[in-house]
Amino acid sequence: MSGDLKWNKIIGAGLATVFVILVVREGTAFIYHNEAPEKMGYFVDAPEEAAGGAAEAILPPDWGTVMPTADLAAGEAAFARCKSCHTIDAGGANGIGPNLYGIAGRATASHAGFAYSDAMTAHAGTNPTWTLDELDLFITAPGRHVPGTKMSFAGIRDTATRVNLIAWLRSQGSTGMAVPAPDPARQPGAAAAAAAPVEGAAPVAG
Ligand code: HEC
Repeated sequence: MSGDLKWNKIIGAGLATVFVILVVREGTAFIYHNEAPEKMGYFVDAPEEAAGGAAEAILPPDWGTVMPTADLAAGEAAFARCKSCHTIDAGGANGIGPNLYGIAGRATASHAGFAYSDAMTAHAGTNPTWTLDELDLFITAPGRHVPGTKMSFAGIRDTATRVNLIAWLRSQGSTGMAVPAPDPARQPGAAAAAAAPVEGAAPVAG
């Protein structure tokens, strides 16, 4: 009898141990599980990466709307990031990159005396002109838009900065380049505006 009790205790202790181990394992798993969202921190970059794919999906700037109001002084200031490699004065020397005078509307990979990469030369075959959209895509992420380009520059992700910069680039020898008319299809609010039936009624709240 007492022997049975003894074995019961031993078995009970064994089961308790197994139980404790299971609890600890589950607990550990739970802790790791909780850490998982923190690991998502690694993917803070993901929006940038995703911006790669997403950028193509995002509407390009509506040039007809944004160009007339662009901040040229801010654009010139943004060009500071390009100056280490590019001049932009008429007849300016090529540096690490080609002179950019009149770049808006200029033929791609066409500047005299500059040795373009094979990637840029090939790009010119499908995109013969630096349109505003082309400049925008290239400056957003040069290496993504022209894989293999020798322009080693990360890109400018901020749209307002790019718009100001591109407007300023155009002011440097490309003012003759026509800016397209405003395109309602490119205006970000277009879909929302269509969804709101009475435009004047919206600000009433508050
Ligand atoms: C680290 C040097 C460097 C910086 C910084 C740089 N570029 Fe470039 N850029 C180059 C090189 C090199 C090329 C030629 C690319 C090729 O042949 O693949 C180039 C090419 C270009 C072209 C195409 C020119 C043509 O004739 O087809 C444009 C447009 C351009 N850069 C704009 C800019 C702008 C705007 C900035 C600043 C936001 C900038 N670059 C910053 C080095 C640079």
